[in-house]
Amino acid sequence: MRIHLIAAARPNFMKIAPLYHALDQVEWARPVIVHTGQHYDINMSDAFFNDLGLPDPHIHLGIGSGSHAEQTGNVMIAYEKILLKERPRLVVVVGGVNSTMACTIAASKVVYADLPEGSRRPVVAHLEAGLRSKDRTMPEEINRLVTDALADILWTPSPDATENLLKEGVPRQKIENVGNIMIDSLEMMRQKIVAAEAFSALGLSRGRYGLITLHRPANVDSPDILAALCRLLIAVSERIPLVFPVHPRTRKNLVAFGLLDGLQQAEKMILTEPMNYVRFMNLVFNCQFVITDSGGIQEETTYLGIPCLTMRPNTERPITVDQGTNQLCTMESLGPRIDRILAGAAKSYHVPERWDGRTAERIVNVIRSKMLFN
Ligand code: UD1
Repeated sequence: MRIHLIAAARPNFMKIAPLYHALDQVEWARPVIVHTGQHYDINMSDAFFNDLGLPDPHIHLGIGSGSHAEQTGNVMIAYEKILLKERPRLVVVVGGVNSTMACTIAASKVVYADLPEGSRRPVVAHLEAGLRSKDRTMPEEINRLVTDALADILWTPSPDATENLLKEGVPRQKIENVGNIMIDSLEMMRQKIVAAEAFSALGLSRGRYGLITLHRPANVDSPDILAALCRLLIAVSERIPLVFPVHPRTRKNLVAFGLLDGLQQAEKMILTEPMNYVRFMNLVFNCQFVITDSGGIQEETTYLGIPCLTMRPNTERPITVDQGTNQLCTMESLGPRIDRILAGAAKSYHVPERWDGRTAERIVNVIRSKMLFN
């Protein structure tokens, strides 16, 4: 069974890796990695393939950056050609980036004209289905809504995601709570992460620094908001060292808004290039807290029991707040929350069900039982 695994942007690579490795071990599956090229810098893409033991993408669409419509349209046009040539039986899309939606649309509408009815298009499965921030100003929310409306199989990471889909009228038999695939990657790479010592290479002490990641348009695309965030982070860095691997979108805006110098001059603020998976996760494993607007990091910190301060008004991963270590923060509440963490007051937490490193195995079993013998 030819199975396309769609990878496009940095957070996708950790989601396809465990599944690729699991499918590569069963004789009935031929996993094919399709990289759309949405992320293309070495440290946003190739570095992750190396770390995660993935082969070079079998197919590369080379799309690159663009406006939302350009990027989505270019992926659809390029991927439709591949679909017609390759005729995969199953297409697995992950997460909620523009390429996730674009490949879902292309695969849902393609027609393998000369094949019998019932096999004229691939089955589309969405891994990490059902996440909802209920905030349609976020491009990912639109991508997730469209993807979930079209996908034939919906693999959710947690019960709240399953509930969201049921409320939207998705038939129960299309949904399976398979757990959180990011935890599979983390467990797969644990030994290397622990051995990496990225934090000590930056002169930091275990448990005595904070880690920052920021890249959401709502935080980094407006000069006023980004300037206010920089002032806030510089103030925090006067109390505890902070390390900040800077996403390309954020770097571009820090330069354009004249904010980069101020950050670089802050004595205990360490700015770095985006890091590969293993080094970055080593920084997560050993930090005292994370300040972020990323999705995946909210989950990884909950799994690891590390306080996570999310600079957003909402999250599509509410289980990390209800059960985990995550707290949604505003500019006003960040300081007091850091005070409490520095004073040793940790939020109690437990790890959600099926965040156990066995999600890829469950998915392989579902594919086998749903598709192989049908
Ligand atoms: C994308 C996803 C977002 C995800 C994030 C993870 C969408 C709508 N957004 O946001 O959900 O959380 O990836 O990183 O799909 N750039 C580079 N090099 C690269 C890639 C991008 O320099 O390898 C720069 C380009 O200037 C580009 C900008 O970053 O225009 C934004 O890239 P893009 O993929 O459009 O969105 P992200 O902000 O990365």
